[in-house]
Amino acid sequence: LPVAYRRLLPDLAPPRAKPARPLPCHPSPGRRLPAMDSAHVENDLVNVLFTEAQIQQRLQEMAEEIERDYEGEELLIVGILRGAVMVMADLARSFSRHIEMDWMAVSSYGSGTKSSGVVRILKDLDTDISGRHVVIVDEIIDTGLTLSWLTSNLSSRNPASVQIATLLRKPEALQMPVDVKYVGWDIPNEFVVGYGLDYREKYRNLRDIGTLAPHVYS
Ligand code: IMP
Ligand code: MG
Repeated sequence: LPVAYRRLLPDLAPPRAKPARPLPCHPSPGRRLPAMDSAHVENDLVNVLFTEAQIQQRLQEMAEEIERDYEGEELLIVGILRGAVMVMADLARSFSRHIEMDWMAVSSYGSGTKSSGVVRILKDLDTDISGRHVVIVDEIIDTGLTLSWLTSNLSSRNPASVQIATLLRKPEALQMPVDVKYVGWDIPNEFVVGYGLDYREKYRNLRDIGTLAPHVYS
């Protein structure tokens, strides 16, 4: 199992007592996901936390809040690959103003079995951010180690400001204080997939966010 997940799996909540909700993303023809391993991707979800519609609604609200805060200023939003791809795409299109987009890719964990706070830049920004207002966009903040490191890294490049927007945050998992200005939702310390979030690189293409059925892990 990849290191990051081995760390997260013990936190996986036991199967819920309540029956799994039927998935809201079924079954309009245009929205069916391709079959994977003879089963549809959604079948592995045991519980949907946020539907596609809820996510879009929340991103719209976040975009409006950001627009108000940066009125009259130029704004660069920086997506953290690969998980933030969906959030970036939908958040960016929720703005009714001009923004610029750039991307970074980082590896959050070193060679150890625990998250070390050591972050390696795999792909740096193409943009010189000195004097610019930057909002880092991520899909989830877990321990906070990645974003805490990233914020200080970007801050050292003399930007006008650096803030963070994340769709999800797990307050119970936080190990490093991270000043997050825009949060979609705080969630319990459970492993979630979908909408950019992966388990072993899969499930990113789900439109909803949910928890995986225990059989997936065994
Ligand atoms: P951290 O905040 O530095 O611990 O790292 C956050 C990264 O770990 C995220 O950007 C995700 O890639 C990954 N991650 C953390 N929690 C989850 C989860 O519940 N599902 C999928 N990936 C997760
Ligand atoms: Mg990420």
